[in-house]
Amino acid sequence: MIVTLTANPSADRAVVLSEALQPGEVQRALSSREDAGGKGVNVARVVSAAGAPARAVVPVNAHDPYRMLLEDTGIALDVIEVAGRARANLTITDPGGETTKVNLPGAELSAVEAEALVAGVVAASQGATWLVLAGSLPPGVPVTFYADLIDAVRERWGAAAPLIAVDASGPALSAVIATARPDLIKPNHEELAELVGEDPAADDDVHDAAVRRARSLVPGRVASALVTLGADGALLFTAEGTWRGRAPRIQVASTVGAGDSSLAGYLLADLEGASAPDRLARSIAYGAAAATLPGTQAPTPGDLPAGPIAVTEFPTPIATS
Ligand SMILES: Nc1ncnc2c1ncn2[C@@H]1O[C@H](COP(=O)(O)OP(=O)(O)OP(=O)(O)O)[C@@H](O)[C@H]1O
Ligand SMILES: [Mg+2]
Repeated sequence: MIVTLTANPSADRAVVLSEALQPGEVQRALSSREDAGGKGVNVARVVSAAGAPARAVVPVNAHDPYRMLLEDTGIALDVIEVAGRARANLTITDPGGETTKVNLPGAELSAVEAEALVAGVVAASQGATWLVLAGSLPPGVPVTFYADLIDAVRERWGAAAPLIAVDASGPALSAVIATARPDLIKPNHEELAELVGEDPAADDDVHDAAVRRARSLVPGRVASALVTLGADGALLFTAEGTWRGRAPRIQVASTVGAGDSSLAGYLLADLEGASAPDRLARSIAYGAAAATLPGTQAPTPGDLPAGPIAVTEFPTPIATS
């Protein structure tokens, strides 16, 4: 069972334009669709679509239209009642595949609601293989929310606690890395650079920079890291080694949610006991499949690219700090 938390859920509105986005102009959209968004919801959708067990823990207001979108997904839900309504995230895609995102801040979570959410996640984690903490934190909770939640889950379930994956950015991810030593993080290139206080714009070589940064964190501060690099594929870092996988050439429809599908693909492979290179290959295949689909539509095994994903091992020395 894979349990996900979406602390700051969103209704994702994907709009497709007939021409390039022109700021300041009135433009016509070709089409639009709305999905229940939030990274944890996305991961649970992809895992469920592959026939593996998943549950999504989500704070939702009973009268929020988002709840209907969420129920439409068909995924198993643990809804935590809250007063605020889910935000909207807007994605605008032009005919060339260029994507512009506008993410709204989300409703504030009160201290009592945050406590109920923690209790809900701790309860849902019983017997789970993985707990996925994904996406931004809602206004009102401290930046240590994920780190504190990891402590609470491990304290409650001890040796039976699930492995914990974190797909977050900024201070929330920094706080996790500082104290909680998660089992997996899934930063993209920019998020990894920010995590170690560096500017990715100054990188000469993206792979070298990512390897150096991730190796400063794995396995001391995090057991493993899946670093996704968009069209350049992804890297996997564990205590045992470093692997690089190339992304297949695809026709991009929308890269939004590609990272969430990458993480889901990785976890699906892990549930099957796959090796590190196979876990990386599956994550890249799922990321690529998501990028070929419009909006944040969840890829199914039938959407995966044909042909194998090329994975090679990096001869990197293992850091111990
Ligand atoms: N243009 C592309 N061509 C082929 N594969 C892609 C492309 N963009 C993304 N992917 C696949 O999706 C994976 C994840 O993409 P990316 O690194 O952009 O994630 P992300 O920045 O975390 O995205 P998000 O947080 O929006 O879900 C990549 O590792 C790759 O496998
Ligand atoms: Mg991401």
